[in-house]
Amino acid sequence: MATTTTSADVTLTTEQIAFFREHGFLRMERICPPDEVEFLREVYDRLFAEQAGRGQGAQFDMVGLDEDGKPQASPQIINPVFFAPELKETSFRRSALAVARQLLGPEAFWSFEHAILKPAGIGAPTPWHQDEAFRRNHPPGYQEISIWMPLQIAAEENGCLEFIPGTNRGPVLRHASPGGDPRVHALECVEGFDPANAVACPLPPGGCTIHHCRTLHHAGPNRSTIPRRAYIQGFALPTEGNPRLSPEFSWNVEKQTANQQRKKAWRMRGGVLTEIGRKVRARWARLVR
Ligand code: NI
Repeated sequence: MATTTTSADVTLTTEQIAFFREHGFLRMERICPPDEVEFLREVYDRLFAEQAGRGQGAQFDMVGLDEDGKPQASPQIINPVFFAPELKETSFRRSALAVARQLLGPEAFWSFEHAILKPAGIGAPTPWHQDEAFRRNHPPGYQEISIWMPLQIAAEENGCLEFIPGTNRGPVLRHASPGGDPRVHALECVEGFDPANAVACPLPPGGCTIHHCRTLHHAGPNRSTIPRRAYIQGFALPTEGNPRLSPEFSWNVEKQTANQQRKKAWRMRGGVLTEIGRKVRARWARLVR
């Protein structure tokens, strides 16, 4: 089987790269060694137990009204590495960057990370969506991929990802707030696809799926007796022009979430300086890698 030439520790075959370009997703049996998966699971559970980042607008419930002190059906943490620096130097992150550069090109850089927990028995489904629909900045040339790794088995029973092949090559479809309620963080794709075409991707712990920002995907509820932990690394290509001049999607303009309010209050309290520091460090990391 032909392979690409790269110094990375994960090398995709030309067939894998072609599959990703055609269908918008790819499944890998392993991207992270078992001992590191175990380490990540410990850090992950600690961060969720502490609701790390909640006061900064980085921890919230994707579904429901996300009120303080209420159980969360689909809790998330944006950029958990900001709250656990030990996540910075993992082999998962290095391998994910290597994979991203083979799929997007050598200029691909780390753009974000994300932890999405579906608690045992009550973890809510993630509605069908394209990640690009969430982006406030998506200028011409915007390309981003997500590398989604479960820290335990992911199956249809506990909410593995499902994809609609080929949607990566189409437009951003119309999205809306679930139930028409702009207080809910989630978005739901409301037209232009047939869920009957979905391909489910069960994975072992430390395996991964990779999807493009346009690829329609969702995850079912967690009906199992164990938490479903997903840890995601995002990578993007540089874009030209001022990204803030890209038009916003109407479904984002109307959002009024409790999390937006927490983030705004944190920025006013001086969090904006922390944000600038994080951006400068991320920019520097892009330059030296
Ligand atoms: Ni997504």
